[in-house]
Amino acid sequence: FPRNGRPFGGCPSAIGNLELDPLPLMHDIQCLGVYTSGGDAPGMNACLRATVRTALANDLEVVGIRRGYEGMIDGDFVEMDRRSVSNIVQTGGTILKSARSTDFLTEEGRTRAADNLERYDVDGLIAIGGDGTFRGASKLNDEHGIPVVGCPGTIDNDLFGTDTTIGYDTALNTAIENIDRIRDTADAHNRLFLIEVMGRDAGFIALNCGIGGGAELILIPETITEMDMIKERIFSLMSAQRRSTIVVVAEGDELGGARGIEQALREDPTFEDIDLRSTILGHIQRGGAPTAGDRVLASRLGVAAVEALLDGHTDVMVGFVNGETKLTPLRNVYSRKKSIDYDLLKLTQILS
Ligand code: F6P
Repeated sequence: FPRNGRPFGGCPSAIGNLELDPLPLMHDIQCLGVYTSGGDAPGMNACLRATVRTALANDLEVVGIRRGYEGMIDGDFVEMDRRSVSNIVQTGGTILKSARSTDFLTEEGRTRAADNLERYDVDGLIAIGGDGTFRGASKLNDEHGIPVVGCPGTIDNDLFGTDTTIGYDTALNTAIENIDRIRDTADAHNRLFLIEVMGRDAGFIALNCGIGGGAELILIPETITEMDMIKERIFSLMSAQRRSTIVVVAEGDELGGARGIEQALREDPTFEDIDLRSTILGHIQRGGAPTAGDRVLASRLGVAAVEALLDGHTDVMVGFVNGETKLTPLRNVYSRKKSIDYDLLKLTQILS
């Protein structure tokens, strides 16, 4: 495919996006740098594959930056070709590795990173990660004029500007699969289980795996629930001679997650006779092969990100909204809060 020949048809919905300047700045990209940063997410590899292959199809050179911003500061760069991304579409983790960099939060760290990019002739970047990754990318763009387009990669699904993030669908399915397993043992013992899921300060995983797993109660940070109300609800559920009760708790819930609620229940004599356990699902939610949905999303976004960069866009994230790719300025992605679906929350009250 010729460079700028739009082999995959571009990302047309970006053009009508009112949040963007109508005419993107033009920059001439010859060598693309790509990296994954922050918490890894299943599908990051599929996104890397799409990014690398789209760049090569447009006659760009591609450099992989290992360990995110840490590797950018250390000059841990690796040349990439078609083969570097063979047989990875189906794998979890990230072949380029990831890190959370504190050095990159400093001006000195970012200057060292920019110097390395210049040394390797990298003149455009694709950043795959979450809001921390995009804050860093934006700073690099502002302070050093390096064009950058972001791809949303996080299991938390907490990014404004995309309906779903790469990795979310896989994490959700992993959480549901594990809730099903816990349901079996909870049922066998007539137990109450508090199950904590990831999501940082957002409740997308909790809300959706709670519904999919048939939880009797779902606690998320987006809604404030008094401990007394929770106790009342749990007590009435357990007294209704249920065989088991599952409460899904988002890690960011204001009551201290599953352990916080467990402690409050154990300290209350009313719950003396209730057989209760808590489980934190933790990092198993981040691993494993990406689902079909995540592989396709990651592939689409990887292609669209490179095309957006070649079209002259910078400081934006490519997302997927209502079935179309869409560009959103990075500053909006990390400063605006994505809302949960409150209709889903109502649904849990009817279904439990
Ligand atoms: O952002 C992804 C995520 O898995 C969150 O859900 C979680 O709070 C956090 O990362 C855990 O980070 P770490 O792996 O650095 O402990």
